Amino acid sequence: MVIFGAGGDLTKRLLMPALYNLSGSKQLAEDFKIIGVDREQISGDDWKRSLDETMQSFTHDKTAEFYTPQIDPTAWSWVKDRLHYMQGDFSQPDTFKHVGEAVGGGSALFYLAVAARFFGTVVDGLGQANLLKQPDGKFRRVVIEKPFGADLPSAKALNARILKQADESQFYRIDHFLGKETVQSIMALRFANGMFEPIWRRGYIDHVQITAAETVGVEERGAFYEPTGALRDMVPNHMFTLLCMVAMEPPNSFDAEAVRSEKAKLIEAIRPVRLEDAARGQYIAGKEFNAAVPGYRQEPHVAADSRTETYIALKLDIENWRWAGVPFYLRTGKRLAGRRTEIAVFLKPAPYQIFRDTPVDAMKPNVIRLMIDPEQGIETALDAKVPGPKMQLGRVETSMRYKDFFDEKPNVGYESLLYDCMIGDATLFQRADAIEASWAAVQPLLDSWARGEGKVEEYPAGSQGPGGADQLLERDGRHWEKLQE
Ligand code: BG6
Repeated sequence: MVIFGAGGDLTKRLLMPALYNLSGSKQLAEDFKIIGVDREQISGDDWKRSLDETMQSFTHDKTAEFYTPQIDPTAWSWVKDRLHYMQGDFSQPDTFKHVGEAVGGGSALFYLAVAARFFGTVVDGLGQANLLKQPDGKFRRVVIEKPFGADLPSAKALNARILKQADESQFYRIDHFLGKETVQSIMALRFANGMFEPIWRRGYIDHVQITAAETVGVEERGAFYEPTGALRDMVPNHMFTLLCMVAMEPPNSFDAEAVRSEKAKLIEAIRPVRLEDAARGQYIAGKEFNAAVPGYRQEPHVAADSRTETYIALKLDIENWRWAGVPFYLRTGKRLAGRRTEIAVFLKPAPYQIFRDTPVDAMKPNVIRLMIDPEQGIETALDAKVPGPKMQLGRVETSMRYKDFFDEKPNVGYESLLYDCMIGDATLFQRADAIEASWAAVQPLLDSWARGEGKVEEYPAGSQGPGGADQLLERDGRHWEKLQE
């Protein structure tokens, strides 16, 4: 495995813990080697020491993505013994020559843990050094992080550029949401059980709410976030991944191409989003967990008059037989009242109301809630009879947490994705056509914004988000589920 961007945050915080977990579960080959490439002139020992420090810091920091009470020294040394550092500039042919010498005639996974502007450069470098030709019986694969393009034209240009150097089957465009166990388990829920399929359609489902709400602000990532914003950062990738899981047709098999074709088909069926089907906002100073926090414009590397959205809500129409007329509402934002990633499926009411004396507001729709973060499991909310002589209805909720049934495996979300790249299973990765269809779905909205249309509403940190997001549902007679701490 060759990691471009060896000194970066992603390598430290996610790739190394994932490799450590894979080594702990004995899923890496004995002759596995990791070559880290970056611009900095440091020694291999320095690199190992800096990774060591980050790994050890995870034993203290309970809020870290990879908190672990202790690092198993055997598994970590196994990884460390296989690390090699190589100084190199991504724009220099020499860098790739040296990488080629280290890789020899073996199989290689080239991981692009670099800023998006280098994706094309590194793939060109690899191609021109002949490193993407697959030797007999060996593979050469490239893993590309997000964001893949910043709009439809740039995504198309990047696809065209990389596909000059290697075949589509050699590219693994990664979306870390697909590494989340519960995202994958949505497929199991839908396609391994008979009970959902009959109701999973327009006749029974009223609407779907997909939420990825965060309490954190933009943190130190202002320079990246300013030209990006919530829509580009989360929607055509993570949010559409969730949408695909819940809305795609059952594939004919679990084969990568079968699954990816269904995903692409679904995304192609999204009616391109118009300005009036979106609401965006930017957080201003407020309170998060009872502590005062600054507004977005006061964050480091953010312009004092920035119009970048830190919140976006969309109404999506899916133009196919299963979903015509069923709106999918998506919302994502930073500095909201609660951290919650989930999909709530609202069913239509019972066809005829026989409980005449029950007040209307007591009759709520059935909801199936697929919880992804921080809780993982399924909840259903139903009406039931309140015990007693009178016929009175009350709300009951059933809740299945995956952790009550299965042992939790240490997981930063990248283990299964890395493992899949190594065994050549592309099921969970994004194909060029799906990426382009995703950008095409949001392009009209991006164009409207670029013309200065539509407002960016303020919302206080720690709130439910901008009022426009509520109106988006209220005009259809619906409401968002409340976010809670
Ligand atoms: C990243 C975005 O891809 O996903 C971040 O760039 C966002 O802005 C993150 O915070 C959310 O991922 P998770 O796994 O924390 O829900």
